[in-house]
Amino acid sequence: MMIKKGTQHLETQRLILRRFKPSDAKFMYKSWATDNEVCRFLSWNPHKDLSETEHIIKGWIKDYENDDKYNWVIELKDISEVIGQISIMHFNEKYSSCSVGYNISRSFWGNGIMTEALKAVINYLFEEIGMNRIEARHNTQNPASGRVLQKSGMKLEGILRQVKVDKYGEFYDLAVYSILKSDLRLQ
Ligand SMILES: CC(C)(COP(=O)(O)OP(=O)(O)OC[C@H]1O[C@@H](n2cnc3c(N)ncnc32)[C@H](O)[C@@H]1OP(=O)(O)O)[C@@H](O)C(=O)NCCC(=O)NCCS
Repeated sequence: MMIKKGTQHLETQRLILRRFKPSDAKFMYKSWATDNEVCRFLSWNPHKDLSETEHIIKGWIKDYENDDKYNWVIELKDISEVIGQISIMHFNEKYSSCSVGYNISRSFWGNGIMTEALKAVINYLFEEIGMNRIEARHNTQNPASGRVLQKSGMKLEGILRQVKVDKYGEFYDLAVYSILKSDLRLQ
């Protein structure tokens, strides 16, 4: 049985994971929304104007009215600045499953930050929401994302070959990872 609690405040040693607020727009815009490298393997393109970021955040804030929306902005405690995002897609109540996606500002890559955030989200979804299966997929040309999944205890299930076409018009392979509630007992 799932208990839908929505996007609750989570905290780790270095991070605060919380709901977006309108004032995050200017930080998100300067920190990652305009960076072509950050969205290289993602479906969206760099924002061209701050109003684009404001508009998207407004929509996410409205989404918080639904308790099956899980979308955190990641704040680094040290500098009290927002540096990235982690969110849940494909929330499936019937099967107690979902998938997870994330990104952070390029200047903070390689410090274990996303692994720290993902572990907290996995823990929350299993312990508080009653999730049974969490899935994540990454383009095989983006191995850093695969490392985050491995370091967070997720297991590779297989590769979907040329399963999609990217925004540049090229087919690409997706690596599928998952973690089950029952895996936690094995770690
Ligand atoms: C993927 C991403 C979230 C990783 O965040 P991060 O905070 O740097 O992740 P971590 O520091 O926890 O771990 C990154 C790991 O990838 C490794 N890595 C980085 N570049 C790599 C590469 N080209 N090949 C193999 N491993 C790589 C790092 O060495 C590190 O592993 P290690 O701890 O074993 O050394 C970040 O790079 C990002 O936001 N990218 C753009 C958005 C994106 O691609 N999102 C995922 C879509 S599926």
